[in-house]
Amino acid sequence: MRIVLVGFGVVGQSFVKILLSKSAELYSTFGLNPRVVACVDSDGMAVSPGGLDLGRLLEAKRTKKSVSAYHDKRDYLNTTDLIENTEAEVMIELTPTNLENGEPGISHIVSAMKTKKHVITVNKGPMALAFSSLIELSNYNNVRLAFSGTVGGGTPILEFAKKCLRGDRILSFRGILNGTTNYILSKMEEDEITFQEALADAKQKGYAEASPRLDIEGYDAAAKLVIMANWIMSRKVSIADVTRRGILDVDLNAIRNAHHDGKAIRLIAYCDNDELNVMPLEIKRDDPICVTGTLNAVTFSSEYSGEKTIVGRGAGGLETASAILRDLIEIRDSISIPFDSMA
Ligand code: HSE
Repeated sequence: MRIVLVGFGVVGQSFVKILLSKSAELYSTFGLNPRVVACVDSDGMAVSPGGLDLGRLLEAKRTKKSVSAYHDKRDYLNTTDLIENTEAEVMIELTPTNLENGEPGISHIVSAMKTKKHVITVNKGPMALAFSSLIELSNYNNVRLAFSGTVGGGTPILEFAKKCLRGDRILSFRGILNGTTNYILSKMEEDEITFQEALADAKQKGYAEASPRLDIEGYDAAAKLVIMANWIMSRKVSIADVTRRGILDVDLNAIRNAHHDGKAIRLIAYCDNDELNVMPLEIKRDDPICVTGTLNAVTFSSEYSGEKTIVGRGAGGLETASAILRDLIEIRDSISIPFDSMA
């Protein structure tokens, strides 16, 4: 399966590392023989119709900071030109989240789908801002649009709600959808450190968005909430519909007071058929969603089976790369190409 990789930060590099270390298993277990035929980062591109040497690609990125050091090819005008004119089955969109206009992610996704490529995205911007139209475009072009990694990092929150609860109706859900703020709030509580110290730590560990404002002002959680609301509850909402407050006002005193009362402050996202909000709230320490570190946790309330909570790592390169791999395997399963002839 030929792949165009657009964006090569922590998640993209982790994904390539998984491909390198698991290639034999991916083929023997899933009939998957992935070949990355093009890779783009903010400084350039590397292209090889026969498949890039992934070890060399990682080395170019590590030593020269860009995939453009892989070789001197300059055959394409820009990224959309490359996406449209490269023969591939799948485009994976990994550029940084832009919640103002969703670009360049939206253009990349549209270009890929129009040229009949399946799309996997972990970029939340396009799905939070243009969910319905992108789903419609994927249906129109008869290609898959997979976005497991947009919510929950490696934790299959979307799949859990969508697939494991079929036949039951989800009435509402509430939870922690942002790993960085959860890490900051729990670090402040455990280590009695300031907000700025905890944020610096989260940035250094690679959990935060390229612009950490997205995390601490609640935009990232709001984007994930919108994706979940649209996909799981069939709502027709965008990020502007979310009532949002971030964690900038949460100081150590408030955290200590909550702790004293057997509670903790967490950034909680909530959705039902009317409400859609993200805000810091005090929750009981024995509430199943009261998790620490970069964990995400969501409790779904459904008509017949009541409440159930899914908990798992919500951020990190390898974690999010595992969601991409799940999506890729699903796409492989959905393409009716004989196992042995799969390129
Ligand atoms: N910055 C995001 C978070 C990354 O902390 O949850 C995963 O979406």
